[in-house]
Formats: sequence, C-alpha cells, structure tokens
Amino acid sequence: MPSPTREKSSHPDSGAQELRTTRLWESIPGLSYGGDYNPEQWSKDIHVEDIELMQQAGVNALSVGIFSWSWLEPFEGQYDFDWLDEIMDNLASAGIKVALATATAAPPAWLVHKHPEILPVTAEGIVLGPGSRRHYSPSSSVYRRYAAGITRTLAERYKDHPALALWHVDNELGCHVSEFHGPEDTAAFRAWLGRRYGTIEALNAAWGTAFWSQRYGSFEEVRTPGPAPSTLNPTQQLDFARFSSWALIDFYSMLVSVIREVTPDIPATTNFMATSATKALDYFNWAKHMDVVANDHYLVAADPERHIELAFSADLTRGIASGKPWMLMEHSTSAVNWQPRNTPKLPGEMQRNSLAHVSRGADAVMFFQWRQSRAGSEKFHSAMVPHGGTNTRIWREVVDLGAALQAMSPVQGSLVESRTAIIFDYESWWASELDSHPSADVKYLDLLRAFHRALFLRGITADFVHPSANLDGYDLILACTLYSVNDADAANIAAAATRGATVLVTYFSGIVDENDAVRLGGYPGAFRDLLGINVEEFHPLPEGGAASVDAGWSGRIWSEHVHLAGAEALASFTEYPLEGVPALTRNATGAGSAWYLATFPDAEALDGIVETLLEESGVAAPAVAASGVELTRRRAADGTGYLFAVNHGTSDAAVAASGRDLISGTPFAGVLAAGAVAVIAEA
Ligand code: GLA
Repeated sequence: MPSPTREKSSHPDSGAQELRTTRLWESIPGLSYGGDYNPEQWSKDIHVEDIELMQQAGVNALSVGIFSWSWLEPFEGQYDFDWLDEIMDNLASAGIKVALATATAAPPAWLVHKHPEILPVTAEGIVLGPGSRRHYSPSSSVYRRYAAGITRTLAERYKDHPALALWHVDNELGCHVSEFHGPEDTAAFRAWLGRRYGTIEALNAAWGTAFWSQRYGSFEEVRTPGPAPSTLNPTQQLDFARFSSWALIDFYSMLVSVIREVTPDIPATTNFMATSATKALDYFNWAKHMDVVANDHYLVAADPERHIELAFSADLTRGIASGKPWMLMEHSTSAVNWQPRNTPKLPGEMQRNSLAHVSRGADAVMFFQWRQSRAGSEKFHSAMVPHGGTNTRIWREVVDLGAALQAMSPVQGSLVESRTAIIFDYESWWASELDSHPSADVKYLDLLRAFHRALFLRGITADFVHPSANLDGYDLILACTLYSVNDADAANIAAAATRGATVLVTYFSGIVDENDAVRLGGYPGAFRDLLGINVEEFHPLPEGGAASVDAGWSGRIWSEHVHLAGAEALASFTEYPLEGVPALTRNATGAGSAWYLATFPDAEALDGIVETLLEESGVAAPAVAASGVELTRRRAADGTGYLFAVNHGTSDAAVAASGRDLISGTPFAGVLAAGAVAVIAEA
C-alpha cells in the first residue's frame, strides 16, 4: 500500500477496534506461528508431548476448539470444560497464546435431533444433514440462540484466562454452503430487501420487473431465486448474492456482540477464504467487522504456477485488510485431502509459501493443523506433526520455519509497498457472470489474474482494492471486467487518472449500474468520458476463436465495435466486420491517462501492454533480480526496508540487493540459492 494512513476504518467502533488489534499484536511477540489444535482427538500423554514439540518448533499461537461443541456440551446444558481448562492452562504455562473458537462451526448431534429446522436447505429444497460439519443456516433463529449460548458460556469461562489472545469466530463462514433457502432464510431475505428498498415500488424499479410481468405487490411475494422454467431476474439473483454474503456477516456480528459484552478488549476474527475460488462472500464488506483480517489459503497441487495463485490470494487479503498486517490462519505443511490427487509439497515449498505470505503482509503463519488426525475424513491431510512423527521431512521443515520466523521478528508490523492497484469488486464478479450475457466465456477473474501474473513476473506488487478505495498514491490502476459500478466509484477511478495515474479499463466494464441496469448512450456508460471512446455493439468471439490485431497480436473471447471520441487508437482489429476498429486506445486526461482494451490479448501482447503501462506510470520492481525470483518489499515505521526474495527456480539466481539476510543472519551476497528465500534488511 502506498501509505499506511491511506485507509480510515469506517467501523463505528474504530477506536476500540484499533486498540484491540494493537493488543493482539502486542500479546504475541514477533510473528505468530502455529495452527489449529484439536486436542480432543488425542489422549493426555499426547497432550504432554504436544507442548514439548510446540516449544521445539517455536509455536506461539494456536486456534483451539473450532469443532469442539459436542465435547464441551455433550448433552444439552451439561458442560465438560475440564479437558479444555487443562489445555488452556498448559498452553499458558508454555507461553503459547490461543485464538479460542466459538465452537459453532459444527452443531452437536443432540441439537440437530431436537431442532432439525436449523439445517441448511438448498435452492432445490434439499435439506443438508448432519454427520459432517457446517450443517446450519445462519438465519435460523433457533441456531442463533444456541450458538450465542455456547459462545457466551465459553467467553464467561475463559474471559480472564492468560492464554486467551483472540476469538476465532465459527470457522470459514460460507464454506461448503453459502446460500440458504429455508423458510427462515426466505423471511430474512424479504426483511433485507425491505431495508434496502423501503417500498415494494422501489424494488420493482430496481429489479426492472416491467420485464416478463415480474411485478411484485408486496415483499411477501418475493422468493429466494430457485428452480424456474427459464432465466431468473438478474437483479433478484444479484440481491440474493448480496443478501447471502450479508446473512453470514450478520451471524458473525451476532456472535461478536456476545463476545464484546463479556470480553470487550479481546479482539475477534474469523478465517476468510479469500482466494480465486471463493466468489460468494464480499470480504471487503466483511473486513469492517473484523479486528484483524485472517485468511486461509491452500495451493492447488496440480497448478504449475501455484505460487502465483498464492500471491494473488495474499494480495487480495492485504487489500481486504486495507494494507494492514493480516493473519495467515491456515495453510498446509504438505498435501491436502480434498483434491483429486493430493501430491505433497516439494522440499522447501512450505517455507517458500509461508514466507511469500509474510512478504505480502501476513504477520502470522498458521497451519491446518498441529497434529495429523488418525481418524475422520481429514486423516490424510498433512499437518505440522505428521503420522510419521518427528523423524520426517515435514517436521524438520516445521522446526526450520519456526526458527526463520523468529529471526524475522523485526518484520512484524511493517507494511507492504505498492504503487499499483487492481480494482477488485465482488459485486462485479457476481453480476458479470450471471446468465444471458453476450458471452459465457467472460469470467470475472481471468483478466485480473492475467494482469496480476504479468506484474508478478516483473516483480511488481499489486494491491487488490475495492472501487471505492482511496486511490491516492497509486500510479498504475487496472480496472478489469468491472462490469457493474456506481457513479461515485466510477468518478473515483476517473479522478485518479485526472490526478496523474495511468488507468487501464478492460472490456465489459462500466456497463451497468448497481442494479444491473444498462447505462445507456453507448458502452461503457460509466467510463465513456474517461476513456474517450464509445462502444456501439459487442462482438464476442466464437468458442476458441481469435481476433487479429494490426499490432501483430491477436485477442480472444471478446471484440467489439469501438468508436474513438477523443482517444487515440494504439492497435486495431483487422478482420471483417471490425477491420480498422480500435482494440487498444489511450486517452490523455488531466495529468494522467486512461487506456482501454477491447479484447483479451494473447500472453505476449498482454506482457507488452503491461511493460508499456509500467513505463508510462514509472512503476518499477523493488530490485533487479534474475527471472523466477519473486520480489516484494515491506517497510517498517522506522523506515527500514525488508526486501523479500523467493527463488522459485531450480538454479541459483542473482538479486541486486545489499543488507543483512535475517534468515541466514549474514550479509546478503547477491546470489539466492535455488528454492531459497532471503529477507534482506536493507542498509
Ligand atoms: C479448511 C478448514 C479446516 C480444514 C482445512 C483442510 O480450511 O477450515 O478445518 O478442513 O480446510 O484443508
């Protein structure tokens, strides 16, 4: 982020929130290291060994009790806290801090037996049963009452416990199932619509219900979007996506309000899944409710560029956290159990992954989980202590990582530097991928990921920011597939160009307003003036088709009939019926410029466009390094720069930097061994 003070929290309680966050980081010295701890799966002698091993590895933080409800309250109203008391006491004695869970992520069997109405219902009316986890609806009044109950009981019991540093609310809210269609969900959706629109006339106007006679006479007539003979009202679908994200935030906030009553000073968080795979939750909205942003990230083992996807997730998490340090709450030491083929991480990959997250703003490196389970569906998921025990590669790497993190303590609290912003908008993700659009091939993330990758390969760190974010300090701003945008956010982006930034907008951006109603008068209505163009008609390409461009490259997925209205054409389509029609344009505006891209360029062309944009905006990598080296810089409040260099290649690589490498404890000699990481405290 360009400046630490850039974002002000809009949370009403922001002073208290800041104090709680400060308290968290102060309570755990240096970077936090640990993972999910599930002691209820193990006997007491193993608990004793656990503490010894945690100390060997340098563990200083654990998430405890995430799936413990049925062990804490085996029968309704009958509690068994003895085992957790002992665990908490032992951890406190060992100097290990606890993120104590609310235990609400898996309702106990007695509760489901007594109240089956808490179970989630799908759009098709299928009730999702117990025997797994996350089998509840966040809008179930009964579940909310019971969840608040166990949360209050836990808070009362452990409020003064010296191990308690953080509340871990529920777990990965929205994982497995994120949309709910039971009677109470429908009622909650109607109430949410009532608050959003006030009157049913306003809803009719926003939803465009003049189309296909969809007019409603009252909120009671509205349903959640379910099976229907043909395509559903798009704004109904969009509002249901907004509501569904909100319903989970609301459940989180309800539990936090219970926690606040009992422990006003203890910070609270929940673990996000901010990756390229999680579409359903608007984490920019959520972040306002969090004392600290926490994220879980798992590699897709089969992806040869999984380290770039990791960077995408970490940059998104930092954006969601407004640039502040965040917690990597979970990742894996090696293989997971839920992909088709769960291959292990390569030697050294766990350290590269962990430190890449730190390089992108994480001040905590945590794993799922501490000790690999013997039973249950996650028994083949790696952990810090594997089935094979301590005479294993994983354990040795866990111990080494703990030592590296300890040596890197000075990094804690420093902020990631970036002068490049990529606009990220969950609502545009939802809206741009609704049905009945010009092309099924337009996928929201594709261009964002392609540009992020091209920047990554050049050592450029990009912040993913919400369209309403303060864009001051960004010299290069990319707005890709920003299909839906409101007037204020469109003006925010335009103002950045006027102020001097280089702004790139890609096709299918600025097309509709926040109600998914088309902005008339020529596309892209929200950005026509900024870009100095007017698009008359979309020409999406056939499946696998290409559109050649006179600059010697070709585009895929999209082309369109662009007219210049002040901009200059830098490249044009060559083929009938778009021959001579601009494919890439530039409009000088104020002290900056606004570029427009009307197709998805091939990789080489996209690289070329990125190079040109970097040159124009003056954005450069934090150092010069051989290819295959990932580069980022964090800067501490005292001005010290920490240059992170991660060598993803298979040969030693030159990095032009000097200073002390915190990991080796020696001056950095300018060469980074294959697979190694250096954290250089710049002189
Ligand atoms: C998620 C959950 C964990 C565990 C891991 C496995 O992140 O939060 O409880 O299931 O996945 O990868």
